[in-house]
This record gives sequence, structure tokens and C-alpha cells, in this order.
Amino acid sequence: MTVRVLTGITTTGTPHLGNYVGAIRPAIAASRRADVESFLFLADYHALVKCDDPDRVEESRLALAATWLAAGLAPERVVFYRQSDVPEIPELNWLLTCITPKGMMNRAHAYKAATDANAAGEPDDGVNMGLFCYPVLMAADILIFNAHQVPVGRDQVQHIEMARDIAQRFNHMFGRGRALFTLPEAVTEEAMQLLPGLDGRKMSKSYDNAIPLFDGGAKGLASAIARVVTDSKLPGEPKDPDGAHLVTLYDAFANVDERAAFRAELRAGLGWGEAKKRLHEVIEREIAPMRARYEEFMAHPELIEEQLLIGARKARAIAGPFLQTLREAVGLRRFRPLAAAPVAARRAAAAPLAAFKQYREGDGRFYFKLVGAGDTLLLQSAAFAQGRDAGAWVGRFRKEGAAALAGAPVTLAADEATVRSALDRFLEVE
Ligand code: TRP
Repeated sequence: MTVRVLTGITTTGTPHLGNYVGAIRPAIAASRRADVESFLFLADYHALVKCDDPDRVEESRLALAATWLAAGLAPERVVFYRQSDVPEIPELNWLLTCITPKGMMNRAHAYKAATDANAAGEPDDGVNMGLFCYPVLMAADILIFNAHQVPVGRDQVQHIEMARDIAQRFNHMFGRGRALFTLPEAVTEEAMQLLPGLDGRKMSKSYDNAIPLFDGGAKGLASAIARVVTDSKLPGEPKDPDGAHLVTLYDAFANVDERAAFRAELRAGLGWGEAKKRLHEVIEREIAPMRARYEEFMAHPELIEEQLLIGARKARAIAGPFLQTLREAVGLRRFRPLAAAPVAARRAAAAPLAAFKQYREGDGRFYFKLVGAGDTLLLQSAAFAQGRDAGAWVGRFRKEGAAALAGAPVTLAADEATVRSALDRFLEVE
């Protein structure tokens, strides 16, 4: 079976070398595998959450598209598209919004961080509804394509878990026994290379220690490398390669032999100035041809536009029919004579699932009961000496439905047809 892998890239800012090594390069390598079906998209609706400057929005999404294509993304192997070219995504976003508990969004890290930062004043200052509902849109991105795996950074794992919860809820409410959505899994690369920045801390724009990928051209790269912090050992003095982040940067672009040779030379006293030249060479070897392609794409955005429109067509060929199924499932259907079944019976069929409750009484013995809507009692068990025996019966009822009634140590607390249909509902969902 081919695994469907989906990744979104928020189109804010321009990528640095750390983004390239940690995210872009591995994603492109993964997309070349034959057993993987890759979906990669520019999350430009998500970018609007944080940016209200139209020119910057335009610039970032173009630069990111050009970066990925220049870095070797093969559009014929990957469904590569802009989120905003697939209207099925915001439409699904609404269907999901209507079943997502607000409390779940209250717990989202990004929202909590924003409210925590407002400690003194109004907690929701500066929080727009896009930020608050960010995880729902992300769920729509993922679920519309029934992606199996979503490679993300650690900060995004909670969002994928929320997407799973939302999918499960939707399946339960509208699936009538079948799973409309695949439950996605977050994939975090333990070994994902975290590139150090100029000062040795993790490379990040917010630390102001980033080495630009293409910005500033070859000169920009050289002047950034000149600022990589080293110790103050002079040329000729032996250096410890293991403590030097310059070596980590070198490793990310060098082959095994080069890595060993570089270490040996540093131990033998290679000067830092010379070492930086070597670093520049290995990076430039990989990046220079990409930079040329990047500049070509930036000068001819129509080439990118064309690729993305092809990607959007491929994406919509999948999303369109699936959204129709989902609209049907929630009741947004073409008008037709209402189904012949009496309304009451259909209501019963769609009735929410009854719940089993297990508990211990003051007499120290164990019981379970089945309660329906409004906590009405449907079924009451006899007493059990062991909690696990009560649990075993609950398990059987969940698996077998009303069929388990025969010989069960229970008394019905409502009419038999009601209890039976409540029990049989478990067959549809379990
Ligand atoms: N929120 C993600 C990030 O900032 C980007 C993103 C948007 C995404 N939608 C997605 C990632 C769907 C994976 C799947 O990194």
C-alpha cells in the first residue's frame, strides 16, 4: 500500500539554511520514494493569520514556491499546490468548525501562548479568530486528502492530535458505521537535523543567527559564514572539532570522507579562516545550482504559476468528489422526496450513542448500567463480586449489541425495542 504523506508550509518569511537541512531537503528526498504519495502545499490561508500586509503575503508565497521547486521538488511526483487554490479546504473547514468543541481550541498551545503573553490585561488581546481556529483549518488540510502521515516539527504535534480527534468525532457523528476520514498520524523525525546558527544556538530568525538560503546571493552566504562564532585559537594551534558548531554546519553538506578529513585537518591546526572557506565551498557546491534555478523562477513567476495550477487541479480532482460525500453525510443534499422511513425511526437511528457506566455501590459490589439520552436508564446489571466481570459484560455488549442480551445478568429498564436498538448502535460504531 502506498502511504499518503502530506505537509504544509506556512508562507511567511524566507527560508534559511536550517529550514533547508531540517525540512526542505528531507521532504524532497522522501517525495522521491516509490512507496510514498506526497502532498505538499503552501499554507497561504494560514499565513493570513499572522500577516495582514498583502505585499508581504504575495512575496513570501512566491519565494517559498520558488525555493521548493529550485531545491528539487519534482511536481510530477508530488501534488504541489496552494491551499487557497483548493476551495474544498475552507468548505471542509466550516463543516469541521461546527463539530469542534471550543474547549479543545482553548487548549491549543499557540492560542494559550498568546493569552499567557497578555497576563496583565485582556487575555484575548491581539488574538484573531484565525489564530484561535488555526488547528481546525489544519485538520481540514489533512482530512480532505485522507493523509496517513504528517511530518511536522514537535510544535505541531498537538495540532495533528486535534485533527485526529476532530476526524474521529466526525466519523462518529456522520459516518453511520463507516470511517469517512482516515485518522492521521504525526511523524516527527527524531533524527531531524537541527542546524546550529551563527552563535551555536538552534538556527532561528528569532535568534538573529540564521544563515540565509538564497537571500543576498553567494555574497550573502559568504558574509554570514564569516560571522560563524569560533574559539580564539590561532592557525597552527590544534582545534577540537567535536565542540565546534562550524563542524556541524560542515557535516550537513559534506560526505563521509570529507567529514573525516576536515576533522583531521582541524586537529592538525587548520586556521578558522581557512576552515570557513572550506565550509563555504561545501555549502556552495550544493546550493549554487539551486540559487541559479531560484533566481530563474523568481524572474519567471509564470512558470511557478503553471505548476501550481496543475497541482491544484490534481488536488481538486480528489477533494471535490470527497467533499460531495461529506456534504451528503452532514445533510447538505440535493432536494428529493424525504426518505420513506417515518421521521421517528430515522431519528432513532441517528440517536446519539447510549453510554455504559460502571460503578461500585456502598455494598462493595460492582455494577454497570446503560443510560440513554437525558440519562434515562435503559438497562441495569445485577451485582458482581469482581469489577472485571462487570467489565467483561460491558465489552460483550459493545461487541455483540443486543445479541448479548440472551442470558445476561441484567434487567431491562425500558421497553425491549428501545434497549435493543440502543445496544445495536454499538455495532455500527465499535
Ligand atoms: N501549521 C504548520 C506549520 O506552521 C503548517 C501547516 C498548515 C501544516 N497546515 C498543515 C502542516 C497541515 C502539516 C499539515 O508548520
